[in-house]
Amino acid sequence: MADIKLRICLVICLIGIISASSVIPSAITHVASFIPDPSSQLSTTFYVTKCPLALQIIKEEITRAVLNDRRLGASLLRLHFHDCFVQGCDASVLLKDNATFKGEQNALPNVNSLRGYEIIDKVKYILETRCPNVVSCADILAVAARDSVVALGGPIWPVRVGRKDSTTANLNAANSDLPSPFLDLKGLIDAFKKKGFSAEEMVALSGSHTIGQTKCALIRPRIYNESNVQPDYRNSLKKNCPTKGGDNNLSPLDVTTPNFFDNAFYKNLLYNKGLLHTDQQLFKGGSGPLDYKVLSYALNPLLFKLDFANAMVKMGNLSPLTGYQGQIRKYCGRVN
Ligand code: HEM
Ligand SMILES: *[C@@H]1O[C@H](CO)[C@@H](O)[C@H](O)[C@H]1NC(C)=O
Ligand SMILES: *[C@@H]1O[C@H](CO)[C@@H](O)[C@H](O)[C@H]1NC(C)=O
Repeated sequence: MADIKLRICLVICLIGIISASSVIPSAITHVASFIPDPSSQLSTTFYVTKCPLALQIIKEEITRAVLNDRRLGASLLRLHFHDCFVQGCDASVLLKDNATFKGEQNALPNVNSLRGYEIIDKVKYILETRCPNVVSCADILAVAARDSVVALGGPIWPVRVGRKDSTTANLNAANSDLPSPFLDLKGLIDAFKKKGFSAEEMVALSGSHTIGQTKCALIRPRIYNESNVQPDYRNSLKKNCPTKGGDNNLSPLDVTTPNFFDNAFYKNLLYNKGLLHTDQQLFKGGSGPLDYKVLSYALNPLLFKLDFANAMVKMGNLSPLTGYQGQIRKYCGRVN
């Protein structure tokens, strides 16, 4: 059943993309990033000769793992985001700390929060036995994020590959550039603007929170102190997140369909059922500058999926290392 839904969704999305590009002139800007960008050295065919089965192997492993543990799909999507927002999509987020090296994994937004490292290591291991020194960890992250979204019923997009892996990471940038869940709307807009995204693209990317979970400690101020929380929703959240203790208790970011990549996240916001403070900042009861965007995604799931897919392509292109830059790590967790 889920499979059928997924196929139908893909077909509808493709029709949506094709019709949007041919019929509505103003929508051409939305599909522009699907057209190969000559300034980018990434391409969808990078591994066709170098490791023909690479993308298929990633897809099979990720799809199986995600259907077995659906939250893993959310975790992998977030891993790619936290990679790309810190010195570009270069797998810097995967480098583990040791006595002489402090990477990004213990940065405040990442520590005790990012998940999915093991499945990336597993995929990397398989790819190293098939095609040693060919497939980068940064590309595995980008493809795994896409395949995760597809497995959960979301849109598909072409992932351009050919990224290399960094030999460095940046703890300070991870602490400063990954958005905090306590930001107000202006802070959110600024954090994404810094990476080249418009406020509207920020709203589309936030739709990621239609899957996955968050910890009690991060929502306590919202559920106990904020006025724009739907009363029944507030009561149910309090049960799982007391004023003291239970800091790591999890609640789904999308209360209605936490395991499906749909537009329910935006519908929830219309009823003050956003979980993170930052999520509800996107919709302020009709008076916020981006409320119209939330409303349009709540009403038009295809528009959301199209804008989300385009924004993901753009995110995946954030300053990659290419050509002779960087390296192909043997183990994603450490520099060769
Ligand atoms: C708009 C600013 C954003 C903020 C403030 C934010 C913040 C957060 C926080 C605090 C969590 C929960 C972490 C935890 O409890 O351990 C979370 C989860 C998540 N975020 Fe975001 N995020 C933002 C944007 C994004 C974007 C752009 C993406 C992907 C493109 C994304 C994908 C996810 C996913 C999928 C989860 C669930 C992860 C899981 O269940 O393992 N987020 N986010
Ligand atoms: C709620 O706000 C009050 C007053 O600002 C503060 O003392 C309290 O710690 C807050 N509670 C939570 C759970 O954030
Ligand atoms: C510590 O990690 C860095 C980055 O991965 C690596 O270059 C270095 O060799 C590691 N040191 C030890 C002792 O493993």
